[in-house]
Amino acid sequence: MRMVDLIEKKRDGHELTTEEIQFIIKGYTEGTIPDYQMSAFTMAVFFQGMTERERADLTMAMVESGDQIDLSAIEGIKVDKHSTGGVGDTTTLVLGPLVASLGVPVAKMSGRGLGHTGGTIDKLEAVPGFHVEIENDEFIRLVNENKLAVIGQSGNLTPADKKLYALRDVTATVNSIPLIASSIMSKKIAAGANAIVLDVKTGAGAFMKTLEEAKELAQAMVNIGNNVGRKTMAVISDMSQPLGYAIGNALEVKEAIDTLSGKGPKDLTELCLTLGSHMVYLAEKADSLEEARQKLQQVIEDGSALETFKKFLQAQGGDPSVVDHPERLPQAKYVVELEAKEDGYVSEIVADEIGTAAMLLGAGRATKESQIDLAVGLVLRKKIGDYVQKGESLVTIHSNFEDIEQIKQKLYNNIRISKEKVEAPTLIYGEITE
Ligand code: URA
Ligand code: CA
Repeated sequence: MRMVDLIEKKRDGHELTTEEIQFIIKGYTEGTIPDYQMSAFTMAVFFQGMTERERADLTMAMVESGDQIDLSAIEGIKVDKHSTGGVGDTTTLVLGPLVASLGVPVAKMSGRGLGHTGGTIDKLEAVPGFHVEIENDEFIRLVNENKLAVIGQSGNLTPADKKLYALRDVTATVNSIPLIASSIMSKKIAAGANAIVLDVKTGAGAFMKTLEEAKELAQAMVNIGNNVGRKTMAVISDMSQPLGYAIGNALEVKEAIDTLSGKGPKDLTELCLTLGSHMVYLAEKADSLEEARQKLQQVIEDGSALETFKKFLQAQGGDPSVVDHPERLPQAKYVVELEAKEDGYVSEIVADEIGTAAMLLGAGRATKESQIDLAVGLVLRKKIGDYVQKGESLVTIHSNFEDIEQIKQKLYNNIRISKEKVEAPTLIYGEITE
């Protein structure tokens, strides 16, 4: 087989065989296929697309390019959740304890990464003592015992995707549905999931800016998962404004605690109940989505979700007393209100710009080397559709530096107020189950 022939075949719009796709991914991972040929290939895919079969083959070839996590020692159906990313997305922190309380095993492998706030691990590390440096067998034991554990990324997972994603980044080929879908799905499958619930975001703060694109990506991922024997479904949810109120690491831990106690923001609670119902149903811990939702509401009301969260924190060295005393989480030195300059309805809270403001406070990493400040961030006081009076707080800013004029300006520029009544945006645009 010659790479040049395969580039030509795809360039001319033909379908590649399974063996041809395996040849490309293996050769690229091992370095026998150079970047310049792979660049030409990804550009051909960008314009010609890939069939369902090709997408499934590409995904599995990337899964097989490196280590695969074996979770077979964990009892039950391992359902993983993946979000395509957003601002102040606190769902993972809530969903873990929530579904674990119903016996769904959550074996979460997580990273840190770049972004407006830290990743799940950074957020959890806001709890004093909490750590994810645990051995694999300890991880498995904890999931069997508490149904929930989080471990840092280790091993050599999907090296083909790592290399390919970096190449796409500099060759204008990131934005291709078959390439994005196979990239995301390969990582989930290599991490050992039996079933996958996807939260595909749409809006200003999302990777997919329009609903059309989000639907297309969701359908592509659901098809890949189901074609390779992992039950997969997707929820399409709004990310035009940040999710919940809190954007920041310790602040989101507190928000997760509030939500697990039944006192969380409406949108975050609703999204967690929706995603959680699908996780519980796919894990076969309920016979219908309605039953799953009722059971989730029950574990919030009777306090068992909070209890699961405490046990989980304690098992990984964390101080469980933060659940009853959130003031023991890291606190910022300055807490400042951003006052509305006029009366009216909040009409826009541009998610990605608000996220950037949180990052400028130190809540997230701009580069791999940046240090995260776990205490800082933003807490929205109003969401789209809310009425605000002049002088009332729009946002509470938690900062460790005194001069926040620039950040205030950025927030004012990206929170718009209208005289006319504005409806709250739709939270869930749809679900794709097959
Ligand atoms: N996220 C991924 O993991 N891969 C892509 O290709 C795009 C977004
Ligand atoms: Ca939030």
